[in-house]
Amino acid sequence: MSENALYTDLSIYYDLMCVDINYQAQSDCVRRIHQIFGNQGTRYLDIACGTGPHIQHFLNYGYQSQGIDLNQPMLDQAKVRCPEASFTLQNMCTFEIDQPVDLITCFLYSIHYSGDIEPLKNCIAAVAQALQKGGVFCFNAVDKRLIDNTLSTAHFTYHSGSRFDFRSGWHYEGSGSTQTLQLSIQKTTGEQIEYWQDQHPMVAISFAELTTLLEPAFDVTILEHDYDSLQPWNEISGNALFVCVKR
Ligand SMILES: C[S@@+](CC[C@H](N)C(=O)[O-])C[C@H]1O[C@@H](n2cnc3c(N)ncnc32)[C@H](O)[C@@H]1O
Repeated sequence: MSENALYTDLSIYYDLMCVDINYQAQSDCVRRIHQIFGNQGTRYLDIACGTGPHIQHFLNYGYQSQGIDLNQPMLDQAKVRCPEASFTLQNMCTFEIDQPVDLITCFLYSIHYSGDIEPLKNCIAAVAQALQKGGVFCFNAVDKRLIDNTLSTAHFTYHSGSRFDFRSGWHYEGSGSTQTLQLSIQKTTGEQIEYWQDQHPMVAISFAELTTLLEPAFDVTILEHDYDSLQPWNEISGNALFVCVKR
């Protein structure tokens, strides 16, 4: 599998890979965060939007919604899912939009796709530029210091007569500013087995370093990665929700 195969040639399997993710609960939580921390506006942008699951829910909440992503096959699916939203093919580290928005999200750890510290800084600057004063940038992230290379998540599902097994896990060497997301997909149809393995290069960062990059433009609150109750980050969990209000 090439670096981007999951989001290009294999993009038809993306929603199967995410079948266990409760996008409704995530979106409900982010909407609540926006109501508590935000400016009450309803213009919404999802960066690295993929096939548009969050956008679908924010359209249902009445937000004027748009998405950007680096890969057209993902946007093609997003457009089918959310015909009322607008989508543009852009890199989240260099993107621009016509009018500032009130809420920007970046989920499934996609902010790490900025790849390294300098492009991450550019991404944060582009987000700040695209937000209204008092607007909210909400995303989830993983702290490089707390990555356990031995852990991975796995699940399977059945679709169109095939069984799909998905596995994913982080890998961090222990130093430096890059880590990888390691993914595999196995498709079993009767006796036939197809197998793809992928390593996505990502930026590695600690939450303290990330907060330092965000603070010049944002008031930053870090919450536990729990979509059912909003709790301050306990400084131990390796995953967290970042809520950044533009000054
Ligand atoms: C793990 S998926 C997340 C999709 C969606 N946010 C979700 O929660 O299901 C990562 C997405 O990031 C996109 N992506 C990767 N690098 C990107 C970049 N530099 N700029 C914008 N999108 C990017 C991929 O094409 C893919 O759709």
